Amino acid sequence: MRIITTILEMQKVADDLRQSGKSIGVVPTMGYLHEGHISLIRIAREHSDAVIVTLFVNPMQFGPTEDYKKYPRDFERDKKLTETVGTDILFVPSKEEMYPGGNLTVVDVEKITNVLEGNFRPTHFRGVTTVVVKLFNITKPHIVVFGQKDAQQAIVVQKLVKDLDFDIKIFIGPTVREPDGLAMSSRNVYLSSTERKDSTVLYQSIRLAQQLINDGERNSSIIISEMSKLITSKPSAKIDYISITDASSLEDLAVLRPNDSILILLAVRFGTTRLIDNILLTI
Ligand code: PAF
Repeated sequence: MRIITTILEMQKVADDLRQSGKSIGVVPTMGYLHEGHISLIRIAREHSDAVIVTLFVNPMQFGPTEDYKKYPRDFERDKKLTETVGTDILFVPSKEEMYPGGNLTVVDVEKITNVLEGNFRPTHFRGVTTVVVKLFNITKPHIVVFGQKDAQQAIVVQKLVKDLDFDIKIFIGPTVREPDGLAMSSRNVYLSSTERKDSTVLYQSIRLAQQLINDGERNSSIIISEMSKLITSKPSAKIDYISITDASSLEDLAVLRPNDSILILLAVRFGTTRLIDNILLTI
């Protein structure tokens, strides 16, 4: 596995790969990799000749009071893991390489970035979309793989690719869960043992919503209220939001109708750790 740290070298290698007829698959990450990331790398491996994993903790997507400084990092472990699953290139730029100063350009997707996560993290998506477009221009992919775990991010990136005519196919890999249902996330490491136990309520509440819908409930506020009751039964849990939305517009659905593509999303804080989860459904 080749490790590349400069934009110029990465672009040159990507050009060479393309000229030799190889398809490029990219998995953008912020490192501290887990099984969820590994499953995305496997999808990239399956659909491309050369797999590039990008590892960059992007300061632009963290708010001023968020966890940029303490975001978990373990380069040696990430290097071993990526190599084991057949990554060809690990692109690991520094902050200075990606943002040398003087940048005046940002990429902003409107409307769907102002709700849900955007409501609580107002500058987050602009940071994500700006770095994602930079990574597209640096790694020159044919396909890029994102995770369903960050459902809103996946929707925003797909819209961006469509609106700006990027010739890139986006794959969304399913959420990978711990045996007790907690969605894998690099941030799970922040949880105390009590918070970790309480955090299983996220997936339990999703299962409850599924059960209610299977039993015929169609009123979103009733489903949200039942989920909310279950979550707040855990002392360490504080809900930021639970929403039931249309899976592409992210507009709230008051009543669920047959053939609706439904996304149930939630963000809950356990102590100082904020976790998100979601499920995509059709009825
Ligand atoms: O999902 C992530 O880890 C990040 O938001 C991404 C896509 C790598 C951009 O920094």
